[in-house]
This record gives sequence, C-alpha cells and structure tokens, in this order.
Amino acid sequence: MAMMRSIASESCAILLLVLVMVLCSCGWIEAADDDLGLGASYIFGDSLVDAGNNNYLPTLSKANIKPNGIDFKASGGNPTGRYTNGRTIGDIVGEELGQPHFAAPFLAPNTTGRAILYGVNYASGGGGVMNSTGRIFVNRLSMDIQIDYFNITRKQIDKLLGPSKAREYIMKKSIFSVTVGANDFLNNYLLPVLSIGARISQTPDQFIDDVITHLRGQLTRLYQLDARKFVIGNVGPIGCIPYQKTINQLDENQCVDLANELAIQYNGRLKDLLTELNENLPGATFVHANVFDLVSDLIKNYAKYGFKSASRACCGNGGQFQGIIPCGPTSTMCEDRSKYVFWDPYHPSEAANLIIAKQLLDGDTDIISPMNLRQLRDL
Ligand SMILES: *[C@@H]1O[C@H](CO)[C@@H](O)[C@H](O)[C@H]1NC(C)=O
Ligand SMILES: *[C@@H]1O[C@H](CO)[C@@H](O)[C@H](O)[C@H]1NC(C)=O
Ligand SMILES: *[C@@H]1O[C@H](CO)[C@@H](O)[C@H](O)[C@H]1NC(C)=O
Repeated sequence: MAMMRSIASESCAILLLVLVMVLCSCGWIEAADDDLGLGASYIFGDSLVDAGNNNYLPTLSKANIKPNGIDFKASGGNPTGRYTNGRTIGDIVGEELGQPHFAAPFLAPNTTGRAILYGVNYASGGGGVMNSTGRIFVNRLSMDIQIDYFNITRKQIDKLLGPSKAREYIMKKSIFSVTVGANDFLNNYLLPVLSIGARISQTPDQFIDDVITHLRGQLTRLYQLDARKFVIGNVGPIGCIPYQKTINQLDENQCVDLANELAIQYNGRLKDLLTELNENLPGATFVHANVFDLVSDLIKNYAKYGFKSASRACCGNGGQFQGIIPCGPTSTMCEDRSKYVFWDPYHPSEAANLIIAKQLLDGDTDIISPMNLRQLRDL
C-alpha cells in the first residue's frame, strides 16, 4: 500500500512537473511574443539611415572605414557602415520606442530567424526613389529593390509567426520609416556631370512629378504587404550641407538656393501625397516628418542648441568647410564631435541625430504630423 501510494504520488509529481514545464514553456513563448509588443522598425532609405547594407555591395559609397562609428558603443567605436560617428536617427528612434536590438541590415548574413522580428534595415548609401539615382556609386539599393527585399522578409515573418499573427504583427506592432529623396537631387538631378543627370531633358516640375509618382507606387506596395504605420521624412536643407557650401564656395551663413528650392518644391508635393494616401488607403497612417524645418532651425540657431559649427564637417577634407572628400582614415577630425551639426560633408553628427530623433518622437504637429512617433507606436 505504502509503495503504491508512493508510486502514485511519484507519478503525480511527474505529471505536475510535466504540467509545470508545459506551462512554463507556454509562458516563455508568450513572454517572448510580448517582448515583440514593444515593436519593430522596418527602415527604408539612403545613407542617413543605412546601418551597413553597403558593406555587402561592390560600391563606391561605403562608410565601413574609420573614423566612422567612433562613438558607436555597440561596436566599441569601430565602423559599422553607418555614415555618422554614432547612432543614426533610425537607431535612436528604435531604441526609444523599446526595440531590444537595432534593426539589422538586410544584407548581413546573420540577419535571419527571429532577429527579423525586431526590425530590418534596407537603407543604402546612394539610394533614392528613382532607379537611376546614385549611379555614380556603381551600386546601391534603390527603393524598388529595398521593397523587393521587404517582400522576402514578409514571407519569412509568415513562416515565423504563421500568416494571421504575422499580418497582425506587421499591421499593429511595426513602424515603417522611409528617409529618401535627397540623393534624387544631389546624386541625380543636381549632379554637376549633366549627362548622367535628368536635368537636360526635364524641368524641375517634371522631375519632381516623376519622383512623386514613383514614391506613390512604392508606398502603395508596402501597404499591399500589410504595412500600416508609416513615417516619411521630407528632404532636408540639402543646400546647406558642407559639400554644397564648399563646392559653391559660399560663406559660412549662406546656403545654395537652387538645391534648397528644389527640396522645398518636392516637400510640398510630398505633403500632398501623404494627405492623399491617408485618405485613400484604409487603415493606414502616414506620418509626415518635417526634417527640412527641423534641420534648418538646427543650422540657423546652432549655438542655441549647444553647437560650435553648423557649416564645417567634423570629419572630411577639402575647401573651407572640409566638404569635398568624404570622411576616412586620412581626414582631419574636429576635437569635440558633439559640437558639430555635421559629421561629414553630407551627414549629421550623432549629436544632431539625437535632437532630430527627440523631436520626431515627442514633437508637436509643426514638426511631426498628424501625430508623433510615440503616438504612432501606441495607435
Ligand atoms: C550579426 O553580426 C554582427 C557582427 O558580428 C553583430 O554585431 C550583430 O549583433 C549580429 N546580429 C545578429 C542579429 O545576430
Ligand atoms: C528599377 O529596377 C528594378 C530592379 O532592377 C526593376 O524591377 C524596376 O522595374 C525598375 N523600376 C523602374 C521604374 O524602372
Ligand atoms: C511579392 O512577391 C510575390 C512573389 O513572391 C509577388 O507575386 C508579389 O507581387 C510581390 N508583392 C509586392 C507588393 O511586390
């Protein structure tokens, strides 16, 4: 009897143990999925947000050389392919919204498995809305290709979560950010080598019309792949970057009018496009990020923000503003990287990125509309 009871209680204990284990593993899976509730970002665009895709391309546009990344803690200050000294705006926003990891570059061989649920980065230095943009770099991922790649990720997410959970995850927990357009002007329409550019055959109006038409198609494709929460940055004051100021031999407080006028003209059309898409694509929210006004203010009132210079590149060479040769091992570098709006001839420093990201996360509707990114996440 005693033995029977002990066997019975033993099997009871085993049953309990099995039950506990089953519960625990269920609980663990749930906890892991709750973790995903914090959200993922799928990042599209150009060198402003490239987190290393160009490292895997045969291209002239590369940032995986020192001293790029010198302030990027996760790599111990080594270059990662980011075109800045530290984190990009996409990195900072993801971190602030509670993503446990930075969105990994799509082309990195280890961007597989559950890692893709924390977000994937498709952005590529030199890339633009138009396929022809950035041709001078030989290779780059333009928006059409970036979205083809998301289509691959989309199917992988189906496999990981099952089709219905995958759909819900992409619609509700994922933010799609698009930071593109500057290269369509800088490395296409405005390129000094006119024969490669579109400027000979098209007026600014026609060219901008073309870019907007392509972008409409691209954003609609993302919608077809279940993207619902979008943030689209407009083009910044590209006439004020050290590269443009240097090649046009401007004074410290001047900017190139033509470049800024094109950006303003394009930005007006972009705003209308986002209004149109908000009306026409049911369930989608397109948030407009007014990077142009934000960065213009940063440049104009740099001292108020604690910067020492908004005209010189911290890392670069050539001309009055170190604005001709991109940042690399032979560049001169400024003493205090946190005091420069621009890291290199084209890109903001991490210090500037932090200010921009904060405004996108928490700013009001003159900068980020119809809602800021924290509100978009919680939608
Ligand atoms: C992939 O490898 C890089 C470089 O070794 C590492 O920093 C990164 O964390 C890895 N990513 C994932 C998703 O494992
Ligand atoms: C751009 O290139 C991609 C890939 O080569 C191609 O699929 C797409 O149709 C092209 N888009 C345009 C507008 O030419
Ligand atoms: C995604 O890829 C499939 C083929 O695998 C294709 O049929 C579909 O049109 C693509 N979707 C988009 C939006 O590009």
